[in-house]
Amino acid sequence: MFDDLLKRLGVEPVNPGACHERWIDLPGAEELESINPATGRPLARVKLAGRADYDEVVDHAVAAFATWRTAPAPRRGEVVRRIGQALREHKADLGLLITLETGKIRSEGEGEVQEMIDMCDFAVGLSRQLYGLTIASERPRHRMIEQWHPLGPIGVITAFNFPAAVWAWNAMVAAVCGDTVVWKPSPLAPLTALAVQRIVGRTAEAEGFPGVFGLCIGSTEEVGERMLTDARLPLISATGSCRMGYHVAEVVGRRLGRTILELGGNNAVIVAPSADLDMAIRGVVFAAVGTAGQRCTTARRLIVHESLHEQVIDRLAKAYKSLSIGDPWQGGVLVGPLIHEQAVEAMQSALRQAEAQGGTVVCGGKRLDRPGCFVEPALVRAVRGMPIVGEETFAPILYVIPYREFEQAVAIQNEVEQGLTSAIFTRDLVEAERFLSAEGSDCGIANVNIGTSGAEIGGAFGGEKATGGGREAGSDSWKAYMRRQTCTINYGDQIPLAQGVRFDVESS
Ligand code: UN1
Repeated sequence: MFDDLLKRLGVEPVNPGACHERWIDLPGAEELESINPATGRPLARVKLAGRADYDEVVDHAVAAFATWRTAPAPRRGEVVRRIGQALREHKADLGLLITLETGKIRSEGEGEVQEMIDMCDFAVGLSRQLYGLTIASERPRHRMIEQWHPLGPIGVITAFNFPAAVWAWNAMVAAVCGDTVVWKPSPLAPLTALAVQRIVGRTAEAEGFPGVFGLCIGSTEEVGERMLTDARLPLISATGSCRMGYHVAEVVGRRLGRTILELGGNNAVIVAPSADLDMAIRGVVFAAVGTAGQRCTTARRLIVHESLHEQVIDRLAKAYKSLSIGDPWQGGVLVGPLIHEQAVEAMQSALRQAEAQGGTVVCGGKRLDRPGCFVEPALVRAVRGMPIVGEETFAPILYVIPYREFEQAVAIQNEVEQGLTSAIFTRDLVEAERFLSAEGSDCGIANVNIGTSGAEIGGAFGGEKATGGGREAGSDSWKAYMRRQTCTINYGDQIPLAQGVRFDVESS
C-alpha cells in the first residue's frame, strides 16, 4: 500500500545496509526486516554490514576527513544548507516513512523532518560562528588565542524513536565543524536511515564532497561494539537506554575516547496549586502520551499538589478516554502503536508491578484487540517510593503522586536516577524561580508552564546523572565535536617565561 512512497525514497524490497561514497554490495549478507508496528507486516529488508564492511566505511570516513577538514567552515555550511533544501523537498515522504517504521503519528513524523531542517539551518549559521577567544597574555608582546579544529570521523548511534532527527542533531553540527560521520542507526528503523543516507549522500556528492556521511547498519557485535573500541572514531555520540550508556562510557573511556551520551529519562511534571489547569492538562497529556510514551522526554511522573489531586486525575482520565488510538498515518489519530511486542509486554509487566506495589490503574493499560502493537495509555495512582516509579518503562504510563509542600515536590522530582527533563505548572513567580534555581530541578532541561517533551533545537539537549551528561543540537553543543587548541604567539624579541620563572641560558 505504500510501495510508491518507498520507491520515491529509493527504498527497494532488499537494500544494502552500508554506504560511504557508494553503497557497498553485500552479497549473501544476513538480512534484517523492517516491520510496520501498526500492522505487524514487513516494509522492506536490509542486508547487514559485517566487520569488513564496517572497516571499509570507516576507512572512507577517515579519507574524506582529510579533505573535508580543509574546506572553509562556511563552505561546509553551504553543503549543509543544500541538505536542508533536499530535506524540504522530501519532507512529506520522509515524514510518512518515519510514521510507517516507528508508529509515530503523521504530524510527529513530519515534525521530525522539520527538526532535521531546523538543525540544518542552525548549523549553516553556526558555520560562520565557530568562534574562539583572544586571551590576555601575562607576558609582554605575547598574544594568546583559543581556536577550534575539526576532531575527526564521528560515530553516531541512534535509537528507533527519533530515527532521523537525532542523527541530524549530531551529523549537521559535526559536518560544519569539519568532521565526517559514521552512522549506526537502530535496527528497528533502518529504512529511515537508508532514505536519509540517499538524500544526504547525493547532495554531498553533488557538492563535491562524497563520503562525508557514511552509514553502517549491522548487529551490535559486528558494528556497534567495533565502533566503541575503534580509535579512528575520537567521539561516539550515542542515544539509548541507561544500560547501554554505562557500557558505551566504559568501553570508549577505556581508550580515552570522547562520548556524548543521551540516555534514559524519568521526567516529572509538578502541578502546583496556582497552576492554570487547562494548560496543565493539555501540556501533560501531550508529554505523557505523545509518540505513545516513547520519547526519552516523555512525562512519566506527575507530582500534583494534594488540593488538586482528585480533580487532576478526573480531568486526565476524561482526556485519556477521548484519545483516538489507531493507524498513525490516519488524520485525527493521536496515539499510534508501540514499537514491538516486547514493548507491549514491558508495559503490561510494569502495570502489574505498580499494582503489586500499591498503585491503582485509573484508566487504560489494555492492549487493543487488533493487529499491531497498540495499547491504551495508562494513568496510575501511585505513592512516593514505589520502586517501579523509579524505572523508565518506554511506554505510555503516567504515575500520579500527591505532594503537600513545594520542597517535597522538588525532592520527589529529583529522587530518580535519571535527570533529563522536568517541568512545573505554576503561576507563582517565586515557585517558578525556585524550581529553576540551583536548589530546584536537577535536570538538563527545566520548563515552566510547558510539558517535558518537544524541545526546540536551539537549546542544548541532554540531561544529568544517569541520563549521561551529553549535550546535543543547539547552544554551544558544537564544542564537543571539535578539538580546542590554545595558542601563544610571541611577537617580541625576548623569551620571557610564564609565572616569572627564570631560566637563563647562553644562546651564543
Ligand atoms: C528523544 O526522545 O530521544 O524534546 C529525543 C523532544 C524531542 C527530542 C526527543 N525534540 O521531545
